[in-house]
Amino acid sequence: MADERGMTRTDARREGAQGRREVSGERQGEDGRVDYALRPKSLDEMIGQERMREKMRILVQAARQRGEALDHVLLYGPPGLGKTTLSHILAHEMQGNLKPTAGPAIEKAGDLAAILTNLRRGDILFIDEIHRLGRAVEEILYPAMEDFVLDITVGSGPSARSIRLKLPRFTVFGATTRLALMTAPLRARFGVVERFDFYSQNALETIITRAAEMLETPLARDGAAEIARRARGTPRVALRLLRRVRDYAQVRADGSISHALADEALEVNEIDHLGLDDLDRRVLNSIVGKFSGGPVGLGTLAASISEEDDTIMDVVEPYLLQLGFLERTPRGRMATKAAYNHIGAEFPESPEQRTLFGGGGE
Ligand SMILES: Nc1ncnc2c1ncn2[C@@H]1O[C@H](COP(=O)(O)OP(=O)(O)O)[C@@H](O)[C@H]1O
Ligand SMILES: [Mg+2]
Repeated sequence: MADERGMTRTDARREGAQGRREVSGERQGEDGRVDYALRPKSLDEMIGQERMREKMRILVQAARQRGEALDHVLLYGPPGLGKTTLSHILAHEMQGNLKPTAGPAIEKAGDLAAILTNLRRGDILFIDEIHRLGRAVEEILYPAMEDFVLDITVGSGPSARSIRLKLPRFTVFGATTRLALMTAPLRARFGVVERFDFYSQNALETIITRAAEMLETPLARDGAAEIARRARGTPRVALRLLRRVRDYAQVRADGSISHALADEALEVNEIDHLGLDDLDRRVLNSIVGKFSGGPVGLGTLAASISEEDDTIMDVVEPYLLQLGFLERTPRGRMATKAAYNHIGAEFPESPEQRTLFGGGGE
């Protein structure tokens, strides 16, 4: 079960395994309380993701006009982009109660049956990390989502019989960082499937500026821009960096954040001008140094730097792909010329290496 901040057991476990990482999109220790306070409460307050917000407005209004519950909604994308936030907002706009849980927390079919039988009409069941639901649990979810019924078996052996319970009309909001790991039948139960993209520089600046206002921290425009530039397109990272810079401003200066101060604070935190941190650099250095630029499989790569596959896949890889530093090939991940340049390594230009890099032509 998620706690009141919506933090799931897996989040907590990852937090422990991962230690502190300023640019991770995953939720970390102190984030919870501040995140909650800074979390937008309505679709209008939410920043960026315009197309998706417009679609959601129409969805909500149409359902409300018809007096119906919302269709099941599946949200996917890297951590920290607003999947949980949007779920809370939609629940609020539908004036429904959001019941949070997470894939790994629902261990047995009976756990889900208990949750389902406690739902009331119009409730929203939020299932975080929905790709981690077990097979037996999913089997219960299909008819619940489709026909609003729950089939349970009472008794055992020859006297066992199946009874069908009617459930109230409810809505499932699913969130996942790994759409590919979801089974096709589960995906098919969702009427609305939306992808979250990284945020623009502009949107991040606005998010940072509003948060600084709420935290009553003086922030110069170019200070906000500098933090946004290094926030790897992710609101959760932007807010975390803002807090680090704010700490620095308070201890080392007069508390206000100028461009120079933001720059200095982020340097001290070892976040480079693209927002890459130590882990990102270790990944790039490993591909280039240990695997001659790749291709290298994700598991091998993760093991080479003693990190978890999940962390590399959810947090590191999407942003490196977005920067054009990594390429995914059927044989594994490869570092691009831009990546070599960024870490100051020489890109191998020999014909043999070029073939390896699939370029050949130019
Ligand atoms: N569009 C947005 N506008 C403003 N703040 C946002 C937005 N999206 C996310 N945030 C902030 O970033 C934090 C992380 O978002 P969250 O919904 O928890 O991400 P996810 O569930 O995708 O991992 C939130 O607490 C919220 O304060
Ligand atoms: Mg979340």
